[in-house]
Amino acid sequence: MEKKTSNTNIFASKVGAILAAAGSAVGLGNVWRFPTETGEHGGAAFILIYVLFMLLLGVPIMVTEFAIGRHGGSDVSGAFEKMSGGRKGWRWMGLIPVVSGFLVLSYYAVVAGWTLYYAYVALMNGFAGKTAEEFQTDFEAFSSDSLSPVFWTVLIIAMTCGIVALGVQRGIERGSKIMMPMLFIFIIVLVGCSLSLPNAHLGLQFLFHPDFSKVTSSVILSAMGQAFFSLSVGLGCLCTYACYFRKDVDLMKDGLSVASIDTLVALLSGLIIFPAVYSIPGLQPDAGPSLVFITLPNVFQQVFGNIPVLAYLFSLIFYLLLVMAALTSSISMLEMSAAYFHKNLRLPRPLAAVVVSLVCMLLATFCSWSFGDWKDVKIFDMNFFDLFDFLVAKLIMPIGGMLMCIFLGWVVDEKVLRAEMTNNGTLRSPLYPTYRFIIRYLAPLCIFLIFANELGLFNFFTEA
Ligand code: ALA
Repeated sequence: MEKKTSNTNIFASKVGAILAAAGSAVGLGNVWRFPTETGEHGGAAFILIYVLFMLLLGVPIMVTEFAIGRHGGSDVSGAFEKMSGGRKGWRWMGLIPVVSGFLVLSYYAVVAGWTLYYAYVALMNGFAGKTAEEFQTDFEAFSSDSLSPVFWTVLIIAMTCGIVALGVQRGIERGSKIMMPMLFIFIIVLVGCSLSLPNAHLGLQFLFHPDFSKVTSSVILSAMGQAFFSLSVGLGCLCTYACYFRKDVDLMKDGLSVASIDTLVALLSGLIIFPAVYSIPGLQPDAGPSLVFITLPNVFQQVFGNIPVLAYLFSLIFYLLLVMAALTSSISMLEMSAAYFHKNLRLPRPLAAVVVSLVCMLLATFCSWSFGDWKDVKIFDMNFFDLFDFLVAKLIMPIGGMLMCIFLGWVVDEKVLRAEMTNNGTLRSPLYPTYRFIIRYLAPLCIFLIFANELGLFNFFTEA
């Protein structure tokens, strides 16, 4: 039996550590963004490329974050400072993830707030009897309102804050241990229901029969971006969590486990959504971000319309699933910045969590208004929501991932890297040479190319 630690500032068990890291990775990116991206980019071929990037870049960068966090034993900036031998430049670089914690939570919480509202509507049986047009107008009216979406966004940040304030073991670990298994149970129930729908085989065909003629440069870039977003790599969330890992956690094995769980949840979400979409003639899988908020509630009503209790349960379970997935990720986003204030400014943990949450609530309000009153307020030609998304997904994640690889691959003494990968020589680590090659050469180069391409510095991947 696994020995538990009495130190409440680290995860008590290895399972708790994996579930917390998996909770950070599994989120709206899997249940909302993955089906959207897969639908828009042609299905199975996109999935294959996405899985390839998960293995080639996602897992090595995740393991790198784990190693920095655990060895540094501190928040991201402290870990960078300690491991670089106090070189100030790296300490400042370590602040990038702290800032990104604010940015990512502020816009992520808006969509998370929508899911909470939809769970509430489902609970109140508010979808019953609605038509497809009504689902569309309802969503547009809700998301562009000045108050209602802000209320739900603030509420989800407050829930996140409550869990983070409780601490590493009582809050983050316990929350993950409760929510992650529930999430799996909900997913399995929904997959079962979805696969029993008429025309489910068309959804399966879309998901599992690759059509490589659909692979274009933008499909490749999107698959890469999705792998980053889905694993939460490059932000520093996983680095922060890893400083709560015990010394006997096998980082490589954990990285592979977390990536496997993350990919499984994404695929299972596809198995819920696409058979459901194909069960109604005329609906298309490429409906975009509104798939989950307009198309699906409509599907639930139409498919189960004759058995209202099933329509009710299917909708409720689905949106609760989304809420839990969003919460386990938002916890890691808030923790990233809160840990910095807790450790560096010596604020008590609950106070640090409240301060970060209040700032995020304010920024999230601006992001929410981007869909309504402030839709014409633009910075660099983007509204707040799009600007934050751009900064996080297109700048901070790739730069953060690249910096961490360079830092561990080139700046830190190799002995440290080897010690972390082998737990001070107690583990065999057959993948170590491959891993080291990836973080020293392959990952920085690939990320640089993606980043440069995204910014239009080069046009390696533009379509002919
Ligand atoms: N990795 C997190 C998600 O998938 C951000 O939602």
